[in-house]
Amino acid sequence: MAVARGEFSSKIGFILAAAGSAVGLGNIWGFPTNTAMNGGAAFVFVYLILAFCLAYPALMAELIIGRHAKSNAVAALSGESTKVPAARPFGFLVGITGIITAILILSFYGIVAGWMISYMIEPIAKMAGAPKAAEWLTDTSSTARNVFFTVLFMVATVYIIIGGVKNGIEKWSTRLMPLLIGLLVVLIIYVAMQDGAAQGFKKYLLPDFSRVTDPELLVDALGQAFFSLSLGVGTMLVYGSYIQRNENLVKLGTMVTLIDVGIAFIAGLLVIPAMYVAQAQGVQIFAEDGVTLLKEDTLIFQVLPQLFNTMGATGLVVGCAFFFLMSIAALTSSISLLEVPVAYAVESLKQDRKKSTIAIGSLILAVSIVIILNFGMLFGFVITLTTKYAQPLLGLCFCVFAGWLWHRNDILNEVKEGHPDAENSLFWKIWPWYVKFLCPLFIAAFFAKSVI
Ligand code: PFF
Repeated sequence: MAVARGEFSSKIGFILAAAGSAVGLGNIWGFPTNTAMNGGAAFVFVYLILAFCLAYPALMAELIIGRHAKSNAVAALSGESTKVPAARPFGFLVGITGIITAILILSFYGIVAGWMISYMIEPIAKMAGAPKAAEWLTDTSSTARNVFFTVLFMVATVYIIIGGVKNGIEKWSTRLMPLLIGLLVVLIIYVAMQDGAAQGFKKYLLPDFSRVTDPELLVDALGQAFFSLSLGVGTMLVYGSYIQRNENLVKLGTMVTLIDVGIAFIAGLLVIPAMYVAQAQGVQIFAEDGVTLLKEDTLIFQVLPQLFNTMGATGLVVGCAFFFLMSIAALTSSISLLEVPVAYAVESLKQDRKKSTIAIGSLILAVSIVIILNFGMLFGFVITLTTKYAQPLLGLCFCVFAGWLWHRNDILNEVKEGHPDAENSLFWKIWPWYVKFLCPLFIAAFFAKSVI
């Protein structure tokens, strides 16, 4: 008997859920940090080009495959729609590797999200007159603190995913995403009024074009674009499979990309000027050479708290609100990561949703704890393995499936659902050969560069 599948009840429900997956720590922390480390506006410029020219077509490949197959990534890629039967085991392998990658990403993502929660509570501890507790909450070296907040975050993730598509993912994403955007805008207005902000805006908005061909910058920008749009692990494929047949996929994919890139850009408008405001106040941000960031976590855990301190008592409330929203942004992303293995367990392995969510959540938590206990050795390693290698490579495989291994007519018919005139659209004139040739080629070239 077929397992009843969930669906997003509305267009806006999908957009907010998929944008919720895309918008996360990668936008508000990763993007500004990469921008600061790669010379400012030159990185922004390259990022925007790669996001629209490489990541967006790959996102469309996942959404189209997902909605056509109406299943998780493993079933979709190893099923009938793969026109070359010999490629089906390869599809199975790609799907399973995607699931393992999603599990590994969530295992480090949960740790960082846990820090966001502890930074959210710190101002409350300060207000309550508990300086010792406040100190513990921001002590990165405390294993107890790291484990406690990772557990808390994973429990919240599991709770939402047990609720399913409509009552879990959609309900929470629709509530939380607008809140996040509102607070970011308020903070930008505040930062813009501070001394030093103008220099930050300049650095962020006026590119030094001599840097745009820097290979390291290009590789960082591609990795950031893939991570930010949640590509390669099957997240967008699974979310695509929950879209109703009468919706226009091209429009939806474009909206999600615009929201994701837009929020990364807005986050940069906050964090980069805030960095220069903090510097004007005497906080050391760059190393002796004046261009290298002292530490990668400086921006979020030092610069912004410093900025909040300048606001006096209001700063405590703003700090708490900011880290609350970071936690929320992380949560709407982590639920999409957990949905990848859960959808496979429920549909392909015919397991109960609640039981498999708890079991997989516990497994991921166990991996997180192993990482916390071997932090120096594993944390950076897992991030590099998943985001620098696995995601772009798997993204490339999805493009190969959409471009070479799936029936072109299946793909066209799928795009036509909700978009009857698709065959004559600009999208259909460009996208098919684009995912067939250009995307795999460019991704492979970037990947080769990053390995060499
Ligand atoms: N896109 C999320 C972010 O920018 O924080 C992270 C992410 C979510 C990556 C889901 C991959 C994924 F499948």
